[in-house]
Amino acid sequence: MDLQLKGRRALVTGSSSGIGEATARMLSEEGAVVVVHGRNRERAEQVAERIGAAGVAIGDLSTDEGAAQVHAGARKVLGGNIEILINNAGGSSTGNTSKPPLDISAKDFVSNYHANALGAVRMVHEAAREMVDAKFGRIINVSSAVALQPNNLGTDYSAAKSALNNYTVSLAGSLKGVGVTVNTITPGVIMVDGLIRFARGRYNDPNMSIEEITQRLANEKVFDLPPVGRLGMPDEVAMVACMLASPGLGFVTGSNYRVDGGQVRAVL
Ligand SMILES: NC(=O)c1ccc[n+]([C@@H]2O[C@H](COP(=O)([O-])OP(=O)(O)OC[C@H]3O[C@@H](n4cnc5c(N)ncnc54)[C@H](OP(=O)(O)O)[C@@H]3O)[C@@H](O)[C@H]2O)c1
Repeated sequence: MDLQLKGRRALVTGSSSGIGEATARMLSEEGAVVVVHGRNRERAEQVAERIGAAGVAIGDLSTDEGAAQVHAGARKVLGGNIEILINNAGGSSTGNTSKPPLDISAKDFVSNYHANALGAVRMVHEAAREMVDAKFGRIINVSSAVALQPNNLGTDYSAAKSALNNYTVSLAGSLKGVGVTVNTITPGVIMVDGLIRFARGRYNDPNMSIEEITQRLANEKVFDLPPVGRLGMPDEVAMVACMLASPGLGFVTGSNYRVDGGQVRAVL
């Protein structure tokens, strides 16, 4: 299948590692012109070189200034407007993932809101008007399974991700007949390098395999394994992002795609 991504101009935020890196790499393999983004220039440049991206844009998306800098940097590398915007940057900015609500402050909520909801809003403000003018755009917001089905921990993060899903539906509804689609992806637990490093450190075993990590973490109830019986891989999220980025998929907007191995038990 030809995803028609050849020559399309894409920015993947938070692509200096993890899901974002896999998405940037896959878009690049599909022939898109890709900008890698992160806050750390060295890390972003290493990834860009490894995956054959066009260049990097650097900036902290928890501020308006940072987003403006990322937009300007991406435009410069791309030599035109951003056609595909993957708002992937994020993660728990407070590290409260094992804390119950009574241990999470209002300040923590604000921090996660900036990192996981407003970063995407800022990038939309920077890039979407040019998409509308060009009558083509793809905006894909990377949220989380816990946005749909929160557990009792780390709710500052899950609440911020829920806001992102909510925003996606409104934004998609407001962009009528202009060729710009907006969708979310809600990954379950994905085996990114950060998680692998965390587990190998926790168990003091630098050679632990992905299967061993999965079993140990599941046995200790760090998380429940979803129905597929394993955790997800970054490429599995990237594949859905590439599909949603395709010019051929103009009839899907305001939707959410769950990439969670069956974790979320919902009909919608
Ligand atoms: N891994 C999972 O299990 C999982 C599950 C559900 C949802 N998600 C979501 O998927 C996305 C990617 O997660 P990941 O696990 O791949 O994370 P990761 O490997 O830690 O990568 C996070 C990326 O986001 C960037 N970033 C974080 N905060 C930023 C900020 N304020 N401004 C600019 N860049 C920022 C990081 O850049 P630096 O290089 O500067 O640090 C990095 O490139 C996140 O939105 C996360 O919430 C992940």
